[in-house]
Amino acid sequence: MPRKARWIVIGLAGLAAAAGAAAYFATGNGAGAALDPDDPEKVALGARLYAEHCAACHGTELEGQPNWRQRRPDGRLPAPPHDETGHTWHHPAEQLFALTKQGLAALAGADYQSDMPAYEGKLSDAEIWAVLSYLKSRWPAEIRTRHDQISER
Ligand code: HEC
Repeated sequence: MPRKARWIVIGLAGLAAAAGAAAYFATGNGAGAALDPDDPEKVALGARLYAEHCAACHGTELEGQPNWRQRRPDGRLPAPPHDETGHTWHHPAEQLFALTKQGLAALAGADYQSDMPAYEGKLSDAEIWAVLSYLKSRWPAEIRTRHDQISER
């Protein structure tokens, strides 16, 4: 095979692997696992899980902790709101999934000190998608549409 063609083949294989990985993460590797704010059962389950696992820090009304943009003396950030006033909706769906499953270290690096727990082993993938579906169900229609666009990019 000519050299150039070989590189194209390698490039295509890489693309296929990336697409496969994206599909894998987007579906959360299991049946019924996806971000769906229009699925009432998933949203109801998510609301229960949110109250149990997340509300203590992120607030019963998704309002977050006071002064959430300001680091505390210990260098850690307070819990941000998950409603439309926060930046949760700025993250694509797969990133929110990774943040919840692996904690902030997933994005910010292992050295990053954060109060945000990792939910791997505490919540199943389907349960994490349910919580995220609940959060999205609480956003105004316009923000939901913008989040759809961010997630599709
Ligand atoms: C012990 C307190 C605590 C609990 C419980 C908690 N969080 Fe967090 N969470 C935080 C803090 C603090 C941050 C911001 C961390 C930082 O930047 O250092 C955060 C950040 C996040 C972010 C990133 C938000 C953004 O805008 O970047 C997501 C997503 C998130 N939490 C989801 C959840 C979900 C879902 C649950 C429940 C399953 C949960 N958290 C439970 C403290 C908590």
